[in-house]
Amino acid sequence: MSDLKVNIINHPLIQHKLTLMRRKETGSKDFRQLLDEISMLMAYEVTRDFPTKDIEIETPIAKCNAKVLAGKKVAIVPILRAGLGMVNGIINLIPAAKIGHIGMYRDEKTLEPVEYFYKMPKDISERLLLVVDPMLATGGSAVAAVDMLKKRGAKSLIFMCLISAPEGIKLFNEKHPDVPIYTACVDDHLNEHGYIVPGIGDAGDRIFGTI
Ligand code: PRP
Ligand code: URA
Repeated sequence: MSDLKVNIINHPLIQHKLTLMRRKETGSKDFRQLLDEISMLMAYEVTRDFPTKDIEIETPIAKCNAKVLAGKKVAIVPILRAGLGMVNGIINLIPAAKIGHIGMYRDEKTLEPVEYFYKMPKDISERLLLVVDPMLATGGSAVAAVDMLKKRGAKSLIFMCLISAPEGIKLFNEKHPDVPIYTACVDDHLNEHGYIVPGIGDAGDRIFGTI
């Protein structure tokens, strides 16, 4: 664990909500709502170091210098399907962000990622891309998504997930050492089917009720 490069967002509200998500009795409606809330809280932490600059404005009372964001514009990039569940929470905080989509699923036998969709804003090379997926398991999907974005010109990226496995963090660190990972929790290990233990099960199925 000590050689893994990962930012764990260990906020009490996030940890409490994550526990509710983990419970097998939690249904899709509550699962989606909790993922929304956690994604917003995580985005608050991920954006903590965004640069600002002073501009002069006039309040009803007086002129003053006040801060506005000064860094790159943002695009949120959910990895379909499950990544979609994180978009609403983030867009609440960054309403001007554009949204790109990458369609990727894990072949159930080989666990290898398969790409099936790609649609990005034109200016991805000038934007900060917030790539989101609730699960970083073997790391195959996240690594392939970032490979694809870099090949098409992306230069500045952050990967944000709800739960990660040490195996996935290790692979992602090796393949994309320049891309920081933010996660709410690093779980114990992967089981023989590539599921995170204890995890939350299949995130896409729980979000969309396709179990
Ligand atoms: C899940 C999850 C990640 C991927 C993680 O998606 O949302 O994209 O698996 O596993 P990995 O790190 O081993 O690649 P899944 O393939 O189940 O597709 P879905 O989002 O359509 O349910
Ligand atoms: N994908 C999921 O949805 N859950 C896991 O535990 C691993 C991969």
